[in-house]
Order: sequence, then structure tokens, then C-alpha cells
Amino acid sequence: MNLQQDNVAVQCRGVKKSFGQGNALNHALAGVTLDVFTGEMLMLVGPSGCGKTTLLSVIAGILNHDDGEIHLFGQDILALRNNAKARFRGRNVGFAFQQFNLLPQLTAVENAAIPLLVLGWSRRKAFDRAGDFLDKMGLGKRLTSYPRELSGGQQQRIAFARALVHEPKLVVCDEPTSALDGKTGEQVISLLKTIAVRPDRAVIVVTHDSRIFHFADRIAHMEDGKIIDTVVAGTVLIDQGNV
Ligand SMILES: Nc1ncnc2c1ncn2[C@@H]1O[C@H](COP(=O)(O)OP(=O)(O)O)[C@@H](O)[C@H]1O
Ligand SMILES: [Mg+2]
Repeated sequence: MNLQQDNVAVQCRGVKKSFGQGNALNHALAGVTLDVFTGEMLMLVGPSGCGKTTLLSVIAGILNHDDGEIHLFGQDILALRNNAKARFRGRNVGFAFQQFNLLPQLTAVENAAIPLLVLGWSRRKAFDRAGDFLDKMGLGKRLTSYPRELSGGQQQRIAFARALVHEPKLVVCDEPTSALDGKTGEQVISLLKTIAVRPDRAVIVVTHDSRIFHFADRIAHMEDGKIIDTVVAGTVLIDQGNV
């Protein structure tokens, strides 16, 4: 089934995902229902272990969910076969992982250019574009450095550039400011918002970092594998008053 609603980037309905089996069965996602709209930055918050990374991974098509439906821009992602899914993800999704996942044998600019090379860009064009993004992230002088020569914060910004470089319609970021000082964290989230939030695009950010909440359009709270509420940023107190 393909739902087509113009302003919905991500639609999750009753999404479930378990790990392990028997006594060790762990319901990481216990029926997630969530809409993410185009033109918004949604922040996803909740205690450690509640399923945030798992939810990002199934939305991004990195993990398959067990039950329920996920539509990305109207496309049912479970309906895609592996190759088609990889192509769809390559074109439409940018992912900045919590652990950066940079390739140690590649330089900063080579790492940042990966999504473009996968899409078939020439190396020269891909490196030019990736270099521009790294420059915007304040890493213009470190293009040819290897990850091991860079600080955690610098590596995180390369991961950011890699998530954004192909201008995907959906960017998902897992704790993107955890290795950054407050000022740098605000700078990269501000840049993320400018680059990746457009009328036809959306961003999901998992974070614990209350210093960046004011960049959110909405905040979704997750607990025990479910979204328990979503609030328009800045209206938290009003919402609590209404409950
Ligand atoms: N690959 C995995 N194998 C087994 N259990 C996992 C795996 N990934 C996550 N989990 C479990 O699923 C639950 C949710 O994890 P996660 O999505 O990483 O939470 P969060 O990102 O909110 O801290 C946790 O109990 C975690 O231990
Ligand atoms: Mg996590």
C-alpha cells in the first residue's frame, strides 16, 4: 500500500521490533505510532534503552521492523526489496550515527563524499561538494585529515556532513551534539535546520541535550518502546496544564 499525503515525511503505525528470543526477548519497539511532517525538525527524547536508536534505524531502513507499517514519503519501505530499498535509502535518507561510523582509512572529505559516490557522482564533483559542506561545518582546513587525527567533535561534524551532502529528503541524527561543546552543538544544529528543513524535507534528531530543544518544531517523548506524547516545542507547560 502506498499512502500519499503531501505533507507527511514519515508515517509509523503500530511499529514493532524485538531482539532476542525466549526469556531474553526484548521488545525494543512495542507499537510506535508517529507522523513526522515535511518542513519540521522533530526531536525524539526518552530514557536510555527506550528504543530511540532502534526507531531511527527502522525509519531509515537500516533495520527491518517485525510488525506495523512505515511509509517514507508515501513509500511502504518493507515492500521494497533489498536493492530497491538501498537505492531508495541512498537517495532519500541521510543518517548521522551516534558512533559516527566513519571509515578510518578514508580522509574527512572522502568520508563525507560517500553518499554522492554511491549515487554515481564523479570523484571530483563529489569531493568538491563534500568539501563545501565540511567548510560550512568549520572543517575546511581538515579535508585531508584522517578520523584518528581529529577530535570527537570534528569527527561528529564529518558524520553530519555525510548525512547532509546529498541533500536527502529525510535526515535522521542520533545524539548529534553528544561530543560537541555547547556553542559548537548549537552551531551544527542551526546549520542542520537551515540546510535540511525545507518545505519538502524533514529532520529527526534523537537527543538528551536540552540546550538544543529550542531548535525543535515538535518534541516526541518515548518510553518503553512507544511514543507517549508529542508536543509543539515551546508549549510543554500548556500541554501539561491541559492533561
Ligand atoms: N542489536 C541489538 N540486539 C539486542 N538488543 C538490542 C539491540 N539493539 C538494541 N537492543 C535493545 O533494545 C532496547 C532499545 O535500545 P535502543 O534503541 O538502543 O535504545 P536507546 O537508543 O533509546 O537508548 C534496549 O533494551 C537495547 O538493549
Ligand atoms: Mg541510542
